[in-house]
Amino acid sequence: MSYSGVFKQQQTKTISITSGKGGVGKTTITANLALRLSQTGNKVLIFDGDLGMANVDILYGVKPTGSIYDVIRGERTIHEVMIEVAKDVFLIPGGSGILEFNNLNGFQRRAMIEAVGQLPQDFDYLLIDTAPGIAENVLYLNAAAQTIAVVITPDPASLADSYALIKVLHQKYRENKFSIICNQVRNETEGVGLYQRFNDVVNKFLYIGLDYMGSIPMDPILRNATQLNRLIMRHDSSSESAKALKKICTEIECMNDRRSVTKGGLQMFWEQVVGVA
Ligand SMILES: Nc1ncnc2c1ncn2[C@@H]1O[C@H](COP(=O)(O)OP(=O)(O)OP(=O)(O)O)[C@@H](O)[C@H]1O
Ligand SMILES: [Mg+2]
Repeated sequence: MSYSGVFKQQQTKTISITSGKGGVGKTTITANLALRLSQTGNKVLIFDGDLGMANVDILYGVKPTGSIYDVIRGERTIHEVMIEVAKDVFLIPGGSGILEFNNLNGFQRRAMIEAVGQLPQDFDYLLIDTAPGIAENVLYLNAAAQTIAVVITPDPASLADSYALIKVLHQKYRENKFSIICNQVRNETEGVGLYQRFNDVVNKFLYIGLDYMGSIPMDPILRNATQLNRLIMRHDSSSESAKALKKICTEIECMNDRRSVTKGGLQMFWEQVVGVA
């Protein structure tokens, strides 16, 4: 490759969307942000890391025929399992989660890294939809991402569980930067208040500060869209929740300089996930 080629190649920004508690809106947020980011001119790759109940595909109305695990097992190429779910939005399904990343042998780790090396390198964003909780897989995916976006809701259980997730990522993986998305709030004021209260607690006990990424209101139109297996961004892009998601997308596009540059890029992400970095 020529030098100009090297310099032109921008680094993929990697963002995990995660939570302590399940059902707080991670998949909804990931799938819609990906579409919105593509609408604003970005090329996006989604990794569906929710190995239990993967459903980014459902919201895009596609049916995956394979997953990352078929690639690791050497049964399919990464190009065979990656699906273009919308213009400039691609999805790598996570599969049924039989294998854990930390249980991969040396051969499987190399297969994964080689496969990722075959992917186009011109993605602007990699969004990772994780499972909820503090299982090792979730921790790996989060620790490998440049930006960890933790979704919280006003439900006290969601706050307690997200606190636990942040604590373990901080103590075991030395993560000290987290972004917060407040979902299912009444309005932005309630969202900001929720963020502030959560930030105070995390700050007091873990000595780390959290960034505010935005709030999404509880929106019956969104719930309805989900029931129809549709993305709110397509179903009703002028709804309150879609407007909030657009705002978060703008925030993401503006926060470039705040992330760790050393962690960026597709290759680096996967090397960290499988523990060869
Ligand atoms: N802002 C919102 N307003 C109304 N409904 C919402 C909102 N956010 C999410 N939901 C609904 O909550 C349900 C759970 O959302 P989603 O599947 O995205 O959560 P999740 O965090 O990915 O869950 P899991 O932990 O099981 O993967 C869905 O039915 C979704 O439509
Ligand atoms: Mg989900």
